[in-house]
Amino acid sequence: MTDNAHWLARSRAAVWHPCTPLRPDDALPLVPIAHADGVWLTDFDGRRLFDAVSSWWVNLFGHGNPRIVDAVAAQMRVVDHVMLAGFTHAPAVELAERLAALAPPGLGHAFYASDGASATEIAIKMSVHSWRNRGLPQKRRIAHLAGSYHGETLGALAVTDVAIFRDAYAPLIVPQARVESPVPRDGETPAAAARRATDALERYLTAEHAATAALIVEPLVQGAAGMRCYAPEYLANARALCSAHDVHLIADEIMTGFGRTGTMFACEAADVAPDLMCLSKGITGGVLPLSAVLASDAIFAAFRSHDIGHAFLHSHSYTGNPLACRAALAVLDIFAADDVIGANRERAARWRALAAPLAAHPRVRAFRQCGMIFAFDVDTGRDGFAPWCFGEALARGLLLRPIGNTVYFMPPYVTRDAEFAMLCERTSGILDSA
Ligand SMILES: Cc1ncc(COP(=O)(O)O)c(C=O)c1O
Repeated sequence: MTDNAHWLARSRAAVWHPCTPLRPDDALPLVPIAHADGVWLTDFDGRRLFDAVSSWWVNLFGHGNPRIVDAVAAQMRVVDHVMLAGFTHAPAVELAERLAALAPPGLGHAFYASDGASATEIAIKMSVHSWRNRGLPQKRRIAHLAGSYHGETLGALAVTDVAIFRDAYAPLIVPQARVESPVPRDGETPAAAARRATDALERYLTAEHAATAALIVEPLVQGAAGMRCYAPEYLANARALCSAHDVHLIADEIMTGFGRTGTMFACEAADVAPDLMCLSKGITGGVLPLSAVLASDAIFAAFRSHDIGHAFLHSHSYTGNPLACRAALAVLDIFAADDVIGANRERAARWRALAAPLAAHPRVRAFRQCGMIFAFDVDTGRDGFAPWCFGEALARGLLLRPIGNTVYFMPPYVTRDAEFAMLCERTSGILDSA
């Protein structure tokens, strides 16, 4: 038996699926994927799904992209894996150099891990530890924005403001400092929201800078909060305030990096260079797990010491895995060879026009676009809109994963215009019965 039912039954018995309630009636859909190719996923019964969310925002250039797959296959025959403590290899070095060249200035030191939450933890630890090494152990609090999301391990949850992910583990979490988000509230303009949040940050830093190590932000868009966009001015103001108060700025570009918001990194929109930058997701085009934290010279310098207590004793088994680094290098090659950022600028404008009828749907509220992210809120009285919409989308050959009442598209950059138009049309059909 190799059909959907066969794999469904085995998966439900043996695999604990992430971010999925274990309903006793097994009512939530689960789709066994037999094949992934380009922007399409195909199940064991031959049904095709358009991957409108790039498989949780990772897949930039389509599934099975031969330029990435071939690079990984070739690397596998040269050095498959070697630990990065006490050893190094070409892909780790080349990738660190190329990321530093692409990133905002001054981020020349790459620390590798395997997923986004680990990158968050590394950045937080680096910030606090660097102040400690500099004789300021009292600077150990991390400020984060209201509505933030930085991952689901315990340290990352401490700077994540999403109750549903946090509440069950509250006794294990060391609360940090939540500051106002620059996402506009009802009726507020983006500029007014940026001003309000800047003022709040200034008040916080004036009072608390001596105890604060860093401010962590998702630049331009708070993703898990529902693709909430905010004005770049806030980033510029936050940079200036952090510098003035000797507090690090950590840019979590895990979702926004690699062209998602229109520039290579979202920080570019405000011409801001953070002290630490977290990267993951699109870094390998969705082929292999990898994350990196890029650190400034000053932070790196704070760890240069003969004292073992000053060393950053953090590692993961697969840190700097050569295959993952090689995949990331292939991704950067594609960005350079195909002028992906330039092409996306035109693509985003065309897609905006194609999405106009959907944006005008009577159930659509607050249609927004930030580069290659499209999102809107759905005016519906339906309880459990998100799982309902997920199921309706599957029935129409789409992979959509709404957040609450927010539907968003983050398709692979290789999506054709006709496919994007199909996505909008089918989504409109779902809204007709929402
Ligand atoms: C901004 C941001 N930070 C961190 C993470 C956590 O990444 P991961 O799921 O790879 O741990 C995510 C994941 O969605 C994210 O969007």
